[in-house]
Amino acid sequence: MCWIFAYNGDKNSIPLLVDGLKDLEYRGYDSAGLIGIKSDGEVFFKKAVGRVSSLATKVDADTNSKWDYSTGIAHTRWATHGIVNEENTHPHTSANERFYVVHNGIIENFKELKAKLEEKYTFYSQTDTEVIAKLIEDSFEWDLRSTLEEMMKTMVGAYSIAVVDRENPDTIVGIKLGSPMIVGEADDGVYISSDVNALSKVAHSYVTLEDYEMVVVKDKQYKIYSAGEMISKNVSEMDIEYDTGDMGNFSSFTEKEIFEIPEVLGNVFNGRINFEDKSIGNETLSELNEHDIQRIEIIASGSSYYAGLIGSYWFRDLAGIPVNVTISSEFLCDTFLPDDKALYVFLSQSGETADVRESLKIVKAKWCLTFGIVNVVGSTIARLADMGLYSHAWVEVWVASTKNVIAQVGIMLMMSLSMWLARDLQYSKARAIIEELGWLGDKIHEVLISTSHIHEVAKKYTQYSDMFVLGRNIFYPTAGEISLKCKELSYIHTENYSAGELKHGPLALIDPELPCLFVNPAGKHYVKTVSNIEEVRARSWVVLGFISKWDPRKDDLYTDTIELPDTSETMAPFTSLIAGYIFALYLAQELDRDVDKPKNLAKSVTVE
Ligand code: M6R
Repeated sequence: MCWIFAYNGDKNSIPLLVDGLKDLEYRGYDSAGLIGIKSDGEVFFKKAVGRVSSLATKVDADTNSKWDYSTGIAHTRWATHGIVNEENTHPHTSANERFYVVHNGIIENFKELKAKLEEKYTFYSQTDTEVIAKLIEDSFEWDLRSTLEEMMKTMVGAYSIAVVDRENPDTIVGIKLGSPMIVGEADDGVYISSDVNALSKVAHSYVTLEDYEMVVVKDKQYKIYSAGEMISKNVSEMDIEYDTGDMGNFSSFTEKEIFEIPEVLGNVFNGRINFEDKSIGNETLSELNEHDIQRIEIIASGSSYYAGLIGSYWFRDLAGIPVNVTISSEFLCDTFLPDDKALYVFLSQSGETADVRESLKIVKAKWCLTFGIVNVVGSTIARLADMGLYSHAWVEVWVASTKNVIAQVGIMLMMSLSMWLARDLQYSKARAIIEELGWLGDKIHEVLISTSHIHEVAKKYTQYSDMFVLGRNIFYPTAGEISLKCKELSYIHTENYSAGELKHGPLALIDPELPCLFVNPAGKHYVKTVSNIEEVRARSWVVLGFISKWDPRKDDLYTDTIELPDTSETMAPFTSLIAGYIFALYLAQELDRDVDKPKNLAKSVTVE
């Protein structure tokens, strides 16, 4: 999505803004822009379509960029209103070119606001952000703070907005509703960012704004207001290390993140599971077990949704708790029937996904128990949830979620085991699973060293423009997540179906040009899925099997196979997903896609 970065201080803001945008770029990369203001009001204003590097080239080519612009605001755009072009790129300006605005979010009533403003002003862009700039000019009386306070009553939607005023050149005002805004304190000045990661290299401490709060930065100092009153807030020490490092021997950062999975799983389990006595010793999970939970509702989007679906099988099968999993944007559209015996689990890597965040607010407003499984420490969803566990997947920078999905799935397995033990004392069965979890890292290594075979198979499948990705029971959402990763990275059209549903319609589409990828490792439904594969093979169509090494049909049933290490059914979603991620990655690489920044996407979806 769009992200903002701003600075006021001793240094020239221009190179700092460019560096800050580089750190935020993975969150939106349609276009980028910045404005710096000198203390006499003179501005340095640049925009560029495409990556931040295009903006950096333009900035470097203009020697004026070396002057001392002590204040500046900057933006990377993921287009919501209006095509990708320079006119629609932020910062946007008022008609008198006094106020400049960057914005992350959506102003839902921008059409009505624009209709009124059009009587007085000519608009140059199609964006809702230009409406904010014109509205500031139109409603400005004596200062920016009171103007924005009034505007917060008029604007409907979600936003974090930073504004500069050429007539008060050492000032930045920021407001927030929904979308994140963090203020960073540094020895040289004050920074504002949508993302704490981008502040970690420059600030020693930071403050997170809550909804309807406002920050006024002036002469290297800042004050925070709520409902017109100045407030004091907790300042956190910057203890976040944000460094994506270099790619090393990997062909993309996404590949590097996939190869971090064994260590990430170590982060997830170590300190929470005692592999010696095969018990789960985690305070949050013990506290959770004190609640009388009769039902679980999981709410998430994208890959986190598929992770939730995978986890739901364990909550039912192991802990015996009924579970429902809902896509967060659908949850928002549905009638919410609060249940005080339900646990509402929100899964989100970023902790900022707008649909998940808004769903959580609805549930909290009815005093129901909420639990977050979030990766980004201190993010909105992590702060709002009553309880939660961090997924500890380290910073996941690149657009495709991989290592975090595995971490989420690991956490839900651990939660299910803990709830199961608290309810049913099935010690020996639970211990067998915990014991196997202790070996999971080794099994994953087995997948990671078989990449050359997966690569060869992927090469072959680049010839297809469509593919079905199928599985049964827990391997149905496992296939769903693999399908999402294939389409997201390779742009091949994939469809996910339950293996049993194939003959209820989709089979009509299959022909030699449409291969079926079946995820069918050993498990209780293996034989039934084999029957579905037979139905496809009876017509001599192409089947790629993600199967166990053990599979007795591996030599006669499939067109191609990717063999997974032999494990119990409980461990197989982990190994299948990782093999699926590698397959998707190589499909994309062979098709020459930008694996780290797939087209049209952004890492953090902060608009509904
Ligand atoms: O940050 P979140 O986990 O809430 O993000 C949810 C989805 O936007 C995300 O998983 C998306 O589907 C990924 N690009 C998938 O790889």
